[in-house]
Amino acid sequence: MTGTVYLVGAGPGDPELLTVKAQRLLVGADAVFHDHLVSDDVLRLARSGTEVVDVGKRPGGAATCQDMINELLVEAANRHDVVVRLKGGDPLIFGRGAEEADHLRARDIAVEIVPGITSALGLLTIAGVAVTSRGVAAGFAVVTGRRAIGDTDWSRYARIDTLVILMGVGNRADIAASLIAVGRSGTEPTMFIERGSMNSERRVRATLTEVARGGTVISSPAVWVVGEVTRDTIECLAKT
Ligand SMILES: C[S@@+](CC[C@H](N)C(=O)[O-])C[C@H]1O[C@@H](n2cnc3c(N)ncnc32)[C@H](O)[C@@H]1O
Repeated sequence: MTGTVYLVGAGPGDPELLTVKAQRLLVGADAVFHDHLVSDDVLRLARSGTEVVDVGKRPGGAATCQDMINELLVEAANRHDVVVRLKGGDPLIFGRGAEEADHLRARDIAVEIVPGITSALGLLTIAGVAVTSRGVAAGFAVVTGRRAIGDTDWSRYARIDTLVILMGVGNRADIAASLIAVGRSGTEPTMFIERGSMNSERRVRATLTEVARGGTVISSPAVWVVGEVTRDTIECLAKT
């Protein structure tokens, strides 16, 4: 009899942003396999004696390859009742959760997916940025900035009111230049939210032109919001 693997979203970092279900599973887990975006404050919730394994893939750094992660999960499900695969934010947003679920289900291992607060939206709300706003932004898109710059057709995002870019720190100058080239205004305001919801959170504002000229100092992880909604934040909601 194999155990169940729970693909759990850990939210953006602050343990108070875990769902009640995520917290319950984490506290009761026999084994936890987490990626690098899961904060230490969240991992401390696992009870002592739990097998906790970092299988994180850091940008440009050492990685546990996806095939190995898949096999580690299968092997853990053969030894434990409750295996938690903990991913930053939501497990299905740039999280490869679907691949892991498919791999496990193909081996008759029970899988349950538990959503989490994605950095792509939750961090904006904490910062008082309304991703949609009457008369300002009728819609939004969440897009990866990681693909090689030539791979993304940025013209698809030229007219979307609010653009939320994940994994875009390294390519930010090229992305900003591409967005201006496809018609977005160079004076359009943008905001980076670095290490959102953690004690060291930092927010940086810059226009697209300023980013294109290399004038911003940002480190990963950061969510980058492009659009008029970043001009006036809702200060009464924003965490100080
Ligand atoms: C591989 S994606 C995973 C996204 C995750 N599944 C989610 O729903 O938030 C990693 C990217 O998410 C963003 N990110 C995740 N957590 C973050 C945080 N606490 N602060 C800022 N950006 C974060 C960054 O853009 C980072 O490069």
